Amino acid sequence: MTEKAFHDERIDMARLPRHIAIIMDGNGRWAERHGKARVAGHEAGAAGVRKAIELCRELGIPALSLYAFSTENWRRSEEEVNALFTLMSKYIHLEIDELHANDVRIRFMGRMDRLPGEARRDLQHCLDLTANNRSLTVNVAINYGGRAELVDAAKAFARDVVSGAVDLERLDEDGFARYLYVPEHPEVDLLIRTSGEMRVSNFMLWQISYAEILTPPVLWPDFGKRELADAIVQYQQRGRRFGARP
Ligand code: IPE
Ligand code: IPE
Ligand code: MG
Repeated sequence: MTEKAFHDERIDMARLPRHIAIIMDGNGRWAERHGKARVAGHEAGAAGVRKAIELCRELGIPALSLYAFSTENWRRSEEEVNALFTLMSKYIHLEIDELHANDVRIRFMGRMDRLPGEARRDLQHCLDLTANNRSLTVNVAINYGGRAELVDAAKAFARDVVSGAVDLERLDEDGFARYLYVPEHPEVDLLIRTSGEMRVSNFMLWQISYAEILTPPVLWPDFGKRELADAIVQYQQRGRRFGARP
């Protein structure tokens, strides 16, 4: 990181979210507003990923989850889908060395088997290279669906029951969570969906059960460090109760 570490005196450093999840939405509308093709919107959006990672690292937030491609995004044109995977590979090649040098661990959430071969290889390289990094963990959701994750977890658990490795009667919530794509993470504290849409679109259904939700109107390519800092400030103004009353 070449720039000076980000500082915002409005942020209470003692009450930072431990896990931020972002539904990076609005690339297509950004492109439309700028009279460009949708792909140009995705390119502009890729630059935003870097800013979010940098800010989390500078503040010391340990986990960031990013929704890059949903199980439903296959419904888009072949051209757009191909462009998205090409862009992911390009982004990985450009950023991986610096991410690794900055002690960022990359993890993957989703069904990897359906990804194009090259994207899968690039991603696997990323996961292997950064596996021991600890300053910040970035979970990238690609071919990810919250329901698919729950089904995959249920299947993995059932397999362990059948093999005798675990006891069905002892299953509880913490035990089940160990079968999710990235098991040992804190729950999501703050869920941000850019572009003002107010829906979760199948993202991290298990992990967001008590997340504070923000839907800033800003389109993802325009969402920078300042906007993420604003979201953290708003998060810190929320009263989290988890069902209890003071
Ligand atoms: C989010 O931007 C990126 C992906 C879903 C891959 P969109 O492409 O959904 O942008 P809008 O919603 O059309 O503006
Ligand atoms: C959700 O955005 C998926 C990602 C941001 C990767 P979409 O744009 O695909 O969601 P919908 O279709 O508006 O619900
Ligand atoms: Mg969208």
